[in-house]
Amino acid sequence: MPCDRTTEEVTLEHKSNVARLDDTDIHDWYRFVFAYSDRVITELADEFSITQNDLILDPFNGTGTTTVTAKKLGIDSIGTDVSPASVLAGQCKTDWNVDVDVFRERADELLATVKPVFDEISSEGNQILDAFGEDAVQRDVDLSKYDLSEPEKTPKDWLPEEVMHKMLVLRHEVEQLPDDDATELIRLAMIAILPEDVANIGFGPEPYKVSGPDDRDVHAIFSNKLDKIERDLRRVQDTVDDGEFVPADTEVLLADARTLGKTLRDESELFNEYGGIDYVITSPPYPAEHDYTRAQRLELVWMGILEDNQDLQKIKKQNLRSNTKNIYVDDDDGERTNIRENDRIDAIVSEMEQILKEEDITHGFGQYYPRVVEEYFGGMQRHFEELFELMNEGGKGAYVVADQASYWQVEIATGEILGELAQERVGFEVEGIKHWRSLHATTGKGEQLPEEILVFRKPESGG
Ligand SMILES: C[S@@+](CC[C@H](N)C(=O)[O-])C[C@H]1O[C@@H](n2cnc3c(N)ncnc32)[C@H](O)[C@@H]1O
Repeated sequence: MPCDRTTEEVTLEHKSNVARLDDTDIHDWYRFVFAYSDRVITELADEFSITQNDLILDPFNGTGTTTVTAKKLGIDSIGTDVSPASVLAGQCKTDWNVDVDVFRERADELLATVKPVFDEISSEGNQILDAFGEDAVQRDVDLSKYDLSEPEKTPKDWLPEEVMHKMLVLRHEVEQLPDDDATELIRLAMIAILPEDVANIGFGPEPYKVSGPDDRDVHAIFSNKLDKIERDLRRVQDTVDDGEFVPADTEVLLADARTLGKTLRDESELFNEYGGIDYVITSPPYPAEHDYTRAQRLELVWMGILEDNQDLQKIKKQNLRSNTKNIYVDDDDGERTNIRENDRIDAIVSEMEQILKEEDITHGFGQYYPRVVEEYFGGMQRHFEELFELMNEGGKGAYVVADQASYWQVEIATGEILGELAQERVGFEVEGIKHWRSLHATTGKGEQLPEEILVFRKPESGG
């Protein structure tokens, strides 16, 4: 708790705050497939009796469920993530001071600028289909000022050509806008529509190509997204202006959870004001072959930060090693934490190594399964060590994870193993593992994965 705040415990009024802001579903501005439900936060805030004098951290903030919900509850929070797309989302969704009139005016100008260009792109497509058709319209639009070549890291066939051209025009025009918070919101709207409504992809939860139309009304899709953001923001600001509600402070930062301390000490005003974290509520990656950089591939490309393989590798290396597509020769999280000295991890890795040997597997992604397990748990141990230094005594962590059997059906009791690492190697006290009815994770076959919440606390020294 910050020392300059009232020491009187403030009872949370979060239920009424959430109810007031219920129909401003800011979460929907942009939410990826791995996001959890805001109920995790509201229920845990209740259960832990978190007050408005506490500071919450989500070190794997994703598209910002924890930080948005904490803000609605009136609880200060910090969110960190390694994905620039998620950080943009988290920042925009919790910046409720944007001048909405400026946003609206800029959005309208942008929509007016791109409209004739989009029409031209659609009509050119029609002309190609019907080269001698009478419908061929001559418009006074110069497409040559736009670079319409396919960005290198756009997965093949995710975007039909005309749609891709419209999105490239949109990106070009967004890049011309002034560099401020209203533009950041417009940028978020642009990247959000890519996986949601523009690309021919589905998520199960990994992205896959689906069949779809050759062209889409990108203008209408984008315009609807901008309207939704405007509506929500106006409602939030009206509620705050009416004096009904004081939103909490929020910071969302780019940081690797394994080296979090430096970022918080150097960049976080909230962390320095409070002097420590009271509660951690989060859903970290787990070894299940989810590739976050692929799920957000279009967003990262359209943000202009993922242009080639080098960029991709740089982003992947910052991720915890939770899938075989981001394992690298110089990875050493397993080795530097002596992770195999944990019996359960050693048993899992040994079982996998045995399968590799028996089946004579020397190529393909299967050969990396044991490495993922070592590097993943090694990385999580490093994260817990870092966290221990940042948390206040008595503070609690709640980690939503799912058990896994993605690798040759070898069972990985993720929650239990993480609990052992947190307690035996780092010094936290495990309070328990609760079952949580999953609202978001699926096996890819439509089944819900059982999820659990690992709860631990940092003991009082001398206690
Ligand atoms: C399961 S998702 C979190 C979803 C989030 N609870 C939500 O509601 O959107 C896990 C997140 O961890 C992030 N991540 C992976 N490795 C990380 C690391 N080393 N440090 C910080 N974040 C990381 C991914 O980018 C992803 O956003």
